[in-house]
This record gives sequence, C-alpha cells and structure tokens, in this order.
Amino acid sequence: MSDNRTIVTNLKDFAGQQVTLAGWIYQARSSGKVQFIILRDGSGLCQCVVEKGKIPDDLFVKLEHLGQESSLTVTGLVRAEPRSVGGYELAVTSAEIIHPTTDYPITPKEHGIDFLLKQRHLHLRSSRQWCIGKIRHTLIDAIRRFFNDNGFTLVDTPILMAAAGEEEQSLFKVDYFGEPLYLTQTGQLHLECAAASFGRVYCFGPTFRAEKSKTRRHLTEFWMVEPEVAFIDLDGLLRLAENFVSYIVSRVLQDNKQELETLGADIAALENIKPPFYRLTYTQAVEILTGEKTAEFMTQQLAQLNQQKETIEKRIADLEAKQTGQIKQWKRDKNAAELIDLHSRIEELNTKIENNPKHAKLAADFNWGKDLGGSDETIISQMHDKPVFVTHYPKQAKAFYMKTDRANYKVVLNFDMLAPNGFGEIIGGSVREDDYDTLLKRIEEKGLKPANYQWYLDLRKFGSVPHGGFGLGVERTIAWLTGEPHIRQCIAFPRMMDKVYI
Ligand code: 4AD
Ligand code: MG
Repeated sequence: MSDNRTIVTNLKDFAGQQVTLAGWIYQARSSGKVQFIILRDGSGLCQCVVEKGKIPDDLFVKLEHLGQESSLTVTGLVRAEPRSVGGYELAVTSAEIIHPTTDYPITPKEHGIDFLLKQRHLHLRSSRQWCIGKIRHTLIDAIRRFFNDNGFTLVDTPILMAAAGEEEQSLFKVDYFGEPLYLTQTGQLHLECAAASFGRVYCFGPTFRAEKSKTRRHLTEFWMVEPEVAFIDLDGLLRLAENFVSYIVSRVLQDNKQELETLGADIAALENIKPPFYRLTYTQAVEILTGEKTAEFMTQQLAQLNQQKETIEKRIADLEAKQTGQIKQWKRDKNAAELIDLHSRIEELNTKIENNPKHAKLAADFNWGKDLGGSDETIISQMHDKPVFVTHYPKQAKAFYMKTDRANYKVVLNFDMLAPNGFGEIIGGSVREDDYDTLLKRIEEKGLKPANYQWYLDLRKFGSVPHGGFGLGVERTIAWLTGEPHIRQCIAFPRMMDKVYI
C-alpha cells in the first residue's frame, strides 16, 4: 500500500499523482485488453482503468475474475476525466486483492422489493441506499444545527413510558420487572416539563407505534425530532415550523445535490421551499375536499395517469422489440434494467388509477369532524407546490393535550404540516392545554387514567404558561425530499408491522 492512500472524494486534490484507493468492486467490464473497474469506497465511485501490459499478466487475469463486491486496493495515477463518474479516474499500476467474492446475490438484474428487504444487510451498499443514507445524515445534522443555533436546549426524554402520549391503541407493551411499561410514542409530555425549566427545548430519538397500517407512510419504529417552546402561540409555532423546514431543505440542497439528482428528486420543487407556507384551517380543507375544484382536479389527474401509462407502454413495446433483435450485450442489459423500471412504474400507475375514483369519492363525501385520512391529505398536498399548514382540527379527532380554541370550543389550536406534491403529513403539532381543569376533563373524556398524568397536570398548577411544540418525522421527511415512494427505504433497518428482516 502506498503512502498516498486516499478516498474517492479527495481525488481532485491528487490529479497527476500516484494514489491508493481501498474499496469494493461496484461494476466491472473487460475487453480482454483493458478492464474498467468501478470502485466503490464508501465516499464515492471511481473508474479504475487497468491496461494489459501495465500490470503483471497474472494480476490482470486475477482482477478480471473478481466478482461484484470483491474487496481490494488499487494504486495508480489520478487523471481528470470529465466523462467518468466523479470526474476523475485511476490509471492502475498495481492492485492488492483483499477478499475475492463470487455470486453476490444482488446483481444489476431484476430484484423485487421483498428480496431486497431480506438482503438489506447487503443492499445498503447500493447506490440508492447510499444516497438516501447521505441525505439522512445531512438532514439530522441540519435538524440539530437549527435548534442549537436558535437557543434550544437538547433534552433526552425516556424511551420507557408509564402512560400513553398519543393513541393508546398504538402502544407497545414491555414487561418491566413484572409490571407493564410502554415504548415511547413521543417525547412531548416530558419535554413540556423541560420547557418550563429551559424555555426552549427539543428531543430527538426513536419513537414507537404499534401501527396496524401497512402503508407507505408508517413504520413501527421511526425517528422524530420534537421542539417545545414556552410562551408561544399557534402563529408562532407555524413560523417556527416553516423556518425550520425551509432551513433543513436548504441544507440538503446545499450538501447533497448530487445524491438528490441520482435519486431523481425534484430539485426545482425543493428550491421553492421558502416561507411563507400555505395556511388552511381544517374547515377550509374540508370545503376544498368536498368542492367542485377537487372533483375536477381528480378527473384531470385520472386522465394524466392514463396518458402516462400509455406513454410508458409504448416505450416498453419499443424496447421489447429491440431486445429480440441483434444488439450488443451491454445494450441488452441496459434495456433490461430500463424495462424492469418501466414495469414497476406501470404497477405504481395502475394502483394510482385504481385508487383515484375511490379517493375522489372519499373526499367528496368527507364530513366535518373526522380526522383527515391519508388520501385526503394527499389530495390537498397535490394541489399545492409548497408545504401546507392545516390548523384548527375538530377536538374529537385529536389528542387530549391539545388546547381548546377559546374562540371556538369545537376545535383545537393544532396544526399538521403537509409536504407538497402529494406527499402528505410530515409534522404534527399544537399549542398545549395549559388550564388544569380543562386538561383533566380532556384526559377523562379520552378514557385515560388521571392518576397516570398527575405530574403532567402539575405543570398546570405551578406557573402554567401558554406553550406548544411539534414533531417532525425523519423518515417521512426524507421520503418527501428524495421522492422515494415508501418510507421503509428511508431508514437503514426498517421495522414494519409485518416485516422485520434484520
Ligand atoms: O402527529 P404525531 O403523532 O405527533 C406527535 O407525536 C406529537 N406528540 C408531536 C409533538 O407535538 N411534539 O407525529 C408527528 C410526526 C408525524 O407528522 C409524522 O411525520 C411522524 O411523526 N410519524 C410517523 N412516521 C413514521 N411512521 C409512523 N408510524 C409515524 N407516526 C407519526
Ligand atoms: Mg399526526
């Protein structure tokens, strides 16, 4: 190994110099005279060019026989090559094989999502998972930066809880020395105590919900960041949330543009994410859902979906015809990969086409009083190009801790933030009920045991102040930013109701 050991992202500092890279074979092809090895080293990809005659013949042959994901070090001259991945390539002069690999189970050919989830321990090395992981890293760093720079103090709230913070049905029970405890659904209740000590606080950790819904938006274990602020009203919370989301989006755009591009994210749409966001009351949202405009919107959408399907079907027919003719192997492989992608897009479109009339009907028949369903949120968010705040939900549809609007006792001072272009809810938050008697009544109405909430009620006895906060789901935010259809791809090792593979 030469002293000039470096990583792919630093190659730009070594043009014209001899360096050593260590990594895994991502892809390789050989013409017999020259081999092109795409090396993956964790920081990026680099094309390594191995010419026959420039390295010992036996090494040339050994390299030629290495399978995908074999590990090795390669030494060579760095040269700028704009056509190459990353803009630099390595003219190889020597190599050391660390671990030759054969039969790596994940090949560039077709793999269904179930297969890939079972292979998650290996699939993490794929370019998609790598890009998502890098974006997640930036997002989490940006979340902490925002709160740390804005006078918030981090407070770590417990994971084992004696009582529910959200819906009781979604509690995971744990045997705690023979007594039941629950995995936390939210850090909020403890955070409210801390807000009375520090003023502005946040917690950030894993949260757990025994969600029985197998949807693209639900995990049973997900990461949530929750700020909580003393002396704040609903308007202040909305401004905090829009500044926060705008900041984290701008950081991901700044640090991960390339990854967003690789993932096919809508960068122009993300560049548009700046305050102010749209504001609707729940009642206005219901008027939109049941109105003429939504009915028209859904009809138009159905026509567009059918048109997209037709275009893709034509492309499929075209490619399939080409595959039966005489073409080069690499072209055949490329077409095959595109065909897989197109078929999965047809499947997605079919689901959307099938759901469109059902969702249109659900929206048209929506009655004031219910919580917005996933499809209702999707419709509203599809009609907007920036995030939408939906505020003032009916009291009966929401959690016990939300403050009753004193100007309208039927609603609470809460909000959901819906990410735009059809993504749906990424934030839920509210002003908290700060009156002792009203809160006690709400706890009883919800069938919860006041004894479990004595400490929480105490906050309303000793220097109670208007306060509130919200929770942002990390995986949902990543899915929105990256355009990934399912949030299970947005955490390294997902936990879902029916699937925990590794
Ligand atoms: O709307 P939720 O349930 O709000 C709370 O938990 C409040 N206690 C937060 C607060 O005010 N401090 O959840 C907040 C966010 C949702 O908007 C969503 O992004 C995410 O958490 N979330 C989930 N993400 C993935 N899988 C699930 N099962 C989720 N449930 C909620
Ligand atoms: Mg919610």
